[in-house]
Formats: sequence, structure tokens, C-alpha cells
Amino acid sequence: MATYADHPFRFFTTPNHLLSKDPSGGEVGPPVPPHLQQHTQKLTIQPDVFTDLASEMAMVHGLITRYLNSIYLQAPHIPATEQPDFCRYMLAWHELVHIHHTNEETDFFPAVEALAGEVGIMEANVAQHQAFEAGMASFKQYVDDVIASREEYDGNRVIGLIDAFGDVLMRHLEDEIETLLALKRFGKDKMKDVYKKAGDEAAKGMKAMSFATLATAWANLDADFEGGAWKSWPLAPAPMKFFITTVLWRLYGNLTKFGASDRHGKLRPLHALPKEGKGSQN
Ligand SMILES: [Fe+2]
Repeated sequence: MATYADHPFRFFTTPNHLLSKDPSGGEVGPPVPPHLQQHTQKLTIQPDVFTDLASEMAMVHGLITRYLNSIYLQAPHIPATEQPDFCRYMLAWHELVHIHHTNEETDFFPAVEALAGEVGIMEANVAQHQAFEAGMASFKQYVDDVIASREEYDGNRVIGLIDAFGDVLMRHLEDEIETLLALKRFGKDKMKDVYKKAGDEAAKGMKAMSFATLATAWANLDADFEGGAWKSWPLAPAPMKFFITTVLWRLYGNLTKFGASDRHGKLRPLHALPKEGKGSQN
């Protein structure tokens, strides 16, 4: 049984997938989870700017989650020779999350509040960022200490450090989707630019990322997620995608090998897991 990065943290179904319909009008998506039912009932049956926005965010959060799963599952199985590379892989995840949340706080959330004309509507999300910040900082500190030879590498310690913030982080990643869906109350006219603002934030985030983070983030996509509806995600200029999947993929092969997927976004068994492990099968 091969082990894939599909647990222990779960992925969120995108709102657009929840609203998807087959030609005969039947639901093709999975059942709507209870926590999202109130929003999907309030929404029109067609995707709109709010479900588009929340779905994009759910994909970013899914990438963060899949990457974290790959760390959590492989951490206890890393041979000594690969521990320095795995530490850099973990630091790249931390950078990905840090950039995402920093850009939300400095650019995207203020832009949302400006469009809505109401200050403070995104405050709960910022407070949640603070709730897992200390745990993530301890995780980064430990990895930095291992790289600097101040600490020994211990995969179980990595798991313990992730356990200290993982559930709070996941709760936040889920709650933020609901916050974005609930922006519908401000109306489409007022909020029509919100999707563009999110795109601006995403572009800024990609520019801020180190090459190692870009390459390892790419190694945690899932081209088959929700029936392949996201196979071209994330949107980026073709030359940039080419650069990441060829040049960076080769330059950072010692890191991308730990990723959940190959350079085409196809999920693969995790590199460091024994082939006959006890993990789940995908
Ligand atoms: Fe987010």
C-alpha cells in the first residue's frame, strides 16, 4: 500500500464544486458539509464572484494542507542523509504560509474592507492568524536549529510541533472560506472587484516567494482535484509555469522529491515512506 499526502489534515471542497450541476440538474458534487450548508443555501445556484473567490482561496488552502500532510507523514521516515534537504522543504512550507497570511493582512483584507465600506469585517481572520503564529514560529525555530546543528533531527518532534498548531490552522483555513462567501451580503456591485484584488494578492505572493518555495509549492498541486476542474490552477503566465516545472524542478529536485505530486500535478506515493507502509491508499 502506497502512502499519499491525503491525511491527516483534510481538504475542503470548493464552493463552486458544491454548486456544480450536471446537465439533467442533479448534483454532481459530494454532499454539502453541514458547516457550508447555510452559505450554499443562501447562494444562487450558479457560481458567482463570491463562490469564485472562495473557491480560489480553498485551492490555496488545499495546497497548504497537502504540503503540510507531506511533511507530517514523511517526517519520521527521513534518513540522516536527507534530513538537511527535508529541513529546507519544511522551511519552504513555512515561507509559503507566512507570505500568504502576510499579504492577506497587509493587502487583501484591507482591500476587502475598503470595497465593503466596513472596517473590521476581516478582523476575526487576522485574530486567527495570531492564534497559530506562536506554534508556527516554534516549528520554524526548531527547523532552523536543526539546520544550524543546535538540535538533532527528530521526526517525532516535528510531528509534535505540527500537532501544537495544526488544528487551529485548519480551523482558520476553513473559516476563511465561510467569511469570503458571506461577503455576498454587501452585494455584487460593491464587491465586483474583489476577485481582481485576490488575484493581485496572489501575483504579489508568487513574486515574493523564494525559488525553493515556488518549486516545492508546485510539487504539492493536485491536477485531478475535483475531477480535474483545477488542472490549470494556479493561473500563471505560461513562461513562468515552464520555468518552474523545468528549470526550478531540476535545480530543486532534492526538495521537490518530497512533494505530494510530480511536475504535472499528478499525485504520487510519498518519497520517504516505505513502499509497504500502513498509510492510506489513493
Ligand atoms: Fe487564506
